[in-house]
Amino acid sequence: MRQHQQQPTPCQSIDLLGVSVVVKRDDLNHPVIQGNKLRKLKYNIKAAQSAQAQTLITFGGAYSNHLLATAFAAKQAGLKALGFVRGDELAETTSKWSSTLNHCHQLGMQLEFVSRSDYRLKQAAPAIAETINSLSESYVIPEGGSNQLAVKGVAEMVTELAAQTPEPTHIICPVGTGGTVAGLVQGVVQNNWQCQVIGVAVLKGLQEMENTINQWLGSNEIDHGYQVLHEFSGGGYAKNSQELIGFSLGFEQITGIPLDKVYNSKSFYALAQLIKNQQITSEDRPLIIHTGGLQGGTNQAKDLR
Ligand SMILES: Cc1ncc(COP(=O)(O)O)c(C=O)c1O
Repeated sequence: MRQHQQQPTPCQSIDLLGVSVVVKRDDLNHPVIQGNKLRKLKYNIKAAQSAQAQTLITFGGAYSNHLLATAFAAKQAGLKALGFVRGDELAETTSKWSSTLNHCHQLGMQLEFVSRSDYRLKQAAPAIAETINSLSESYVIPEGGSNQLAVKGVAEMVTELAAQTPEPTHIICPVGTGGTVAGLVQGVVQNNWQCQVIGVAVLKGLQEMENTINQWLGSNEIDHGYQVLHEFSGGGYAKNSQELIGFSLGFEQITGIPLDKVYNSKSFYALAQLIKNQQITSEDRPLIIHTGGLQGGTNQAKDLR
């Protein structure tokens, strides 16, 4: 990861159903380590370097934004990278690799394909633990890149925002593994903002998500509160209803802002619904984070975690 100071990403004002909405264009921060990935990896790369690690290890599906971001960041930092990929059937069928996997491979990431049951267990799976233990100096970043250091990196976005725009009434973002929404809550509290933080779960069955998010937050941050909306997952991780697809195509035509199919189409759609239901009105000043997900032009609607 480059050590120089990143430029603040732009804030773009748009009209959404008669409400003025600020879009934090974090999708424009980097062509590959895009959006929340750059923020989440920043302090993890620093920690790996301080620990003199030689290899970054992480986990992801065949279309994982995080896997690719880690491969790129490792190369940039002069570290080796090892990615455990969900699905051992891919080991023998390189012709079926996604563009994400090919890109990771080109960047020098060693790919280890593991069964779905081992993948669920991560380091607790003996085969995975054995590979990790065989490497002398390594630094493990969890699936999706979410951990305490990732939360710290995302929290900085609110400080960046505080210098760019008046305090919003709401901050909205998509939720996969929960690190991004946790970072926004942390940043809001650090900046003494009062605004509501709303996460939009993209995956069905994230009902336990609040427990995951709370583990990264201090008690004052938990007291500030946040909401995770579970009704916009569109039937599951990569499931997209025709309505959702129509919304995101129309949105791009009107605003010129492209939305990935898995994360941002759902969070922007959710905001539109909150406006339609008058839970957010023209009296409010909502701000929505565009978290990227468009790198490499893949925008695939499956296995992106
Ligand atoms: C583009 C994009 N947006 C949002 C998210 C969700 O972030 P989090 O996993 O921190 O909840 C992810 C994946 O992690 C992502 O790739």
